[in-house]
Amino acid sequence: MTQYGVDLFLVLVLASLGLSALAIFISISRHRRNHSKAAVLPGSGEDFATEAARKVLREFEKNGQSVDAALVTWSPDTLRKILADELPDAQVIVVSNREPYIHNETKDGDVELVVPASGLVSALEPITRACAGTWIAYGGGSADRTVVDRNDRIQVPPGNPSYTLRRVWLSEDEYQGYYLGFANEGLWPLCHIAFTRPIFRESDWKAYEAVNRKFAETVVAEARNERPIVLVQDYHFALLPRMIRERLPEAIVITFWHIPWPNSEVFSICPWRERILDGLLCSSIIGFHTQFHANNFTESVDRFMESRIERADAAVSYGGQVTLVHAYPISIEWPVELLEALPSVEECRARIRKRFGIPADAKLCVGVERLDYTKGILDRFHALEELFIRHPEMIGKVVFLQIAAPSRGTLPAYKQLYEECLRYAEELNERYGNGTYQPVVLVAEHHAQKGVYEIYRAADICMVTSLHDGMNLVAKEFVASRDDEQGVLLLSTFAGASRELLEALIVNPYDAAMMSEAMLQALVMGPDEQRERMRRMRDIVRDNNVYRWAGSMLLDAARLRKRDDLDRVTALYDRATGSAGDNVVSMFERKQAVGFR
Ligand code: F6P
Repeated sequence: MTQYGVDLFLVLVLASLGLSALAIFISISRHRRNHSKAAVLPGSGEDFATEAARKVLREFEKNGQSVDAALVTWSPDTLRKILADELPDAQVIVVSNREPYIHNETKDGDVELVVPASGLVSALEPITRACAGTWIAYGGGSADRTVVDRNDRIQVPPGNPSYTLRRVWLSEDEYQGYYLGFANEGLWPLCHIAFTRPIFRESDWKAYEAVNRKFAETVVAEARNERPIVLVQDYHFALLPRMIRERLPEAIVITFWHIPWPNSEVFSICPWRERILDGLLCSSIIGFHTQFHANNFTESVDRFMESRIERADAAVSYGGQVTLVHAYPISIEWPVELLEALPSVEECRARIRKRFGIPADAKLCVGVERLDYTKGILDRFHALEELFIRHPEMIGKVVFLQIAAPSRGTLPAYKQLYEECLRYAEELNERYGNGTYQPVVLVAEHHAQKGVYEIYRAADICMVTSLHDGMNLVAKEFVASRDDEQGVLLLSTFAGASRELLEALIVNPYDAAMMSEAMLQALVMGPDEQRERMRRMRDIVRDNNVYRWAGSMLLDAARLRKRDDLDRVTALYDRATGSAGDNVVSMFERKQAVGFR
């Protein structure tokens, strides 16, 4: 053997030893995780979670950056521990436009409670519960004012309160300009590749600014001290991080952008692009669902702002502030209790078929979302028609049930979509249906979580064919609902969820022929293949749950806070002693000298 051959051999042996060690480590960790609850004494599950979280923290400290948190069993307890150990006394404040509970007045004058159709709400609700935080949101329900106290607060969830919902009131003009106008006719189409032209009006921008200011004041009013952790949600509040920073300079502001971020060329369309970036860059952390969108954001900053980009650290320095720009894929709470409360899959199938008049021998394909042009609902109808054209033997054998929660219904683009959906569904039913068989059932109504899960459980196929989507939690909910390990997910390659749920049938919603063939594949897929795919996706969603999403951000926030604290101690010490950056004195001594706890 030549010297080169010997070297290569040694390298291969070492690499394979390394890989084996890694595999053994992962397998031991999995084993421990799988058995942690059942294994030993009561409480040991929690202890394991805490220990695992500590391990992550140690790694995290050692590397000076976020590590893969795969070894932690993420639960509400893990979050609470991270808060108690790493961010003691920190008050968590969530800010979003949409509120988690809406109180509406019924026709009979009663008050009904509605949980809105919103991925943001389903993800943030368990987190706020776990942190016993304060959630600030627009009070848009017709009975919202009647149920709050004199500080506009109400304890929620109803029946089992664990956090405070603080409602903010908006005038008709504010709502029109900030929410319908700038957020949903401007930023929404700007950030989604769905070929709907963004509309930017000066008056909408003014309203957006004013409403962001109003929310900033509410954050300040709700903050119990100078150092809350504020979780700013979504494109409704791009200016809020700056406004909070000006009033509470020591706050940690974590901003999460729930929708895609466009490339810098598209972003440049926005007349207030610099103001938006300036606002966001006052966040301590900005999160996106995918690395791709985080990169698009950084590229926009690079192009339009005087800033320094530290690519290796995924950080941006702007105006004396460092902001981490990271991908944190959002998820759901694994629905253990909900599944326990739901009927069996067989029962759900029977109920849903009866409720919507679906023949017992037809396969059921479902779509569940807000009625939004980014969701690709018409493209789904198109694919169904293509299936019937290419495979006429499937006519009569499949029914497509589309649940579309009304959304932003006063905007022209949404009205038009609704009309087109109605028209196309009618056409398909006329063309391919008969007296007893209707291939499309379109239900434009809001469904509560339990009802939605019943539909998922009744389905043979779930279609998530968004034209563009930050993540899409319907895909994850469908997978979580199927404890029978059956059902096929058709998932758009343009939804963030397709980066994680690789065992779905990944489709391009613009390609009707391809989608129709994927539908056929799903319709004829045997139970074994369904089980294999579903099992792997369920493992992913169970492990990468919403507590991991929030926990990863809080860990990053803890690191930032520690770094800020050290900077402050050094500055205070230097000022008190006149020593300019003298490294001989330990941090412990410095802390003692300036009375820092
Ligand atoms: O998924 C993106 C998103 O904007 C969420 O952030 C939001 O809650 C959801 O869509 C629903 O939209 P809206 O609150 O406008 O009804």
